[in-house]
Amino acid sequence: MNVPNHIAIILDGNGRWAKAKGMPRSYGHVKGCANLETICDDMKELGVKYLTVYAFSTENWKRSREEVEGLMKLFRNYLKKCIKISEKNKMRVKIIGDVTGFDGDIQRKIAELEEFSKDYTELHFQIALNYGSRDEIVRGMRRMADDISKGRISPADIGEGTIGNYLDTAGIPDPDFMIRTSGEQRLSNFLLWQMAYTEFYFTDVAWPDFNKAELIRAIEKYNERDRRYGGVKEE
Ligand code: FPP
Repeated sequence: MNVPNHIAIILDGNGRWAKAKGMPRSYGHVKGCANLETICDDMKELGVKYLTVYAFSTENWKRSREEVEGLMKLFRNYLKKCIKISEKNKMRVKIIGDVTGFDGDIQRKIAELEEFSKDYTELHFQIALNYGSRDEIVRGMRRMADDISKGRISPADIGEGTIGNYLDTAGIPDPDFMIRTSGEQRLSNFLLWQMAYTEFYFTDVAWPDFNKAELIRAIEKYNERDRRYGGVKEE
């Protein structure tokens, strides 16, 4: 089985999964968070080198105050716990998104986790928090415009690679495979620039139920695809 180098996942369906069980949405997020820990182990075991997950979008602030507060509590706990997980999996953790939107203590936990895990290379784990692809491009282009105005780069030097370097994912290879759980079939403003050639896979399975067997099933589908880059098949 050819395992994708970089898998991106849109973690969707926690709320509906919980509701179907007669439980509050927050219960779905707790289970979804626990599943994130398991899937990191599975990815490492299967030999996936890069994993990027969409955990909280720039749009998610519009959810009820209760749900947003519950998610912030979950992030606080998880970011702390993730130090141990990164050590166990030799996993480098990076947060993509506008972290300045979070409370100071969350920002400090993010900085601590990134610093602690920065030399690990077994698995590169990116968590998208307060992330929106268009917002990422806006922030990146502002920095690029600033560098141009200060004479650090000239417009003639700008190529696709330059733009990639101004995104939150600078230095991270583009995803080969994107999985979205829970039935919706859209990108929801996730890695728009980075996923120009990515294979997409949609499953009805809700995120808390997405286990290793489901992951292997998805990778098998990826293997059935005829990967072409710009119309030229790579042999
Ligand atoms: C989508 O399900 C999920 C979210 C908006 C939050 C994702 C959060 C986690 C998986 C847990 C925490 C993650 C970290 C990094 C600690 P939904 O609520 O949109 O479900 P629905 O579509 O059924 O309403």
